[in-house]
Amino acid sequence: MVGVVRAVLDDRLIVDLRGDWRLLTKPPFTCVKGNTVEVAASGHVVRVLTDGPLRLADDLDGPEDLGRFRVAPDATLDFNSFFGYEQVVESSRELVALSLNRADELRAIGTRPIKGVLFTGPPGTGKTWLAQILAAKAAATFYVIRGPEIVSKYVGDSEGLLRRIFEDAAKQARALIFFDEIDSVAARRGQGNHDASERLVAQFLTLMDGVDSSQNVLVVAATNRPQDIDQALRRPGRFDWEIAFPLPDENDRLAILEGSAGPMQAETLPHAAVATRTVGWTGAELVAVLQEAALVTVKDGRSMISVADYLIGFERQQRRRSGKERADA
Ligand SMILES: Nc1ncnc2c1ncn2[C@@H]1O[C@H](COP(=O)(O)OP(=O)(O)O)[C@@H](O)[C@H]1O
Ligand SMILES: [Mg+2]
Repeated sequence: MVGVVRAVLDDRLIVDLRGDWRLLTKPPFTCVKGNTVEVAASGHVVRVLTDGPLRLADDLDGPEDLGRFRVAPDATLDFNSFFGYEQVVESSRELVALSLNRADELRAIGTRPIKGVLFTGPPGTGKTWLAQILAAKAAATFYVIRGPEIVSKYVGDSEGLLRRIFEDAAKQARALIFFDEIDSVAARRGQGNHDASERLVAQFLTLMDGVDSSQNVLVVAATNRPQDIDQALRRPGRFDWEIAFPLPDENDRLAILEGSAGPMQAETLPHAAVATRTVGWTGAELVAVLQEAALVTVKDGRSMISVADYLIGFERQQRRRSGKERADA
């Protein structure tokens, strides 16, 4: 956790943890009022992160400073950069048509473009990747807000940041606001969350409600834990649409392996055999098999990925996964 020291007492500190004030034991090192500190789950102050309070206002003063949240869409991206998942790609094409790219026509016939879409699915299933592709296809200004970052780094000013992002987006011809890992902020309210998180969700919803149909703003939010999401987000006019990213089935896995090998110099690789042996793997893990294989090839001074390199890539990735599973257990 990250907090700001509000007062130093004889042997105690008062630390503001995202709006939640705590009386903590003074650490053995110097700590003064205003320091931003890291606090362990045990309640111990671990270290001083910065001398002053970390606030958005310190480094974001003018509209141009929103630049770090605004990502230029990569115009070379297309839906065929997303492998497998026919259903997901189909829905995404429809989404671009039903929101940003056809907004004027939709308004002309008296209906409103889609305002919000929830991307749900486990980590590594390509949610962030698809959002980038959507922004590119719609030629939209792309804003990326990361849930964990906004609650930890911008202690105390994340609400101001959100408001300014929505204001800036409203001025663009088209904008896509991508809220990644929204579950880290928008867990169901009234479940012992910090007040500050609750305020942030409430404000986010107000901002979303304030996007009127004359603005070409689409909000996409991604979550690994849809069951934990505040139901208020799903109300009509907010996140009306949901695109689910399940773990890839065998066809998807084959398409991801073939697709990522596509631009590489390689012998004929046994993709089908790997696809059958990777039940439960994510897209990101499958892409990594090819990246590992390419590393083996290059390290060996060759320029074409061999079947042996590919199998080494597969085995390395398999070891990494089982290591991770043990760590998670
Ligand atoms: N279906 C897919 N097609 C192409 N690349 C994929 C796919 N799924 C995952 N990836 C790759 O894995 C990386 C990580 O995926 P990411 O979008 O960050 O997952 P998530 O946001 O769901 O955790 C992406 O940058 C992309 O390179
Ligand atoms: Mg992601």
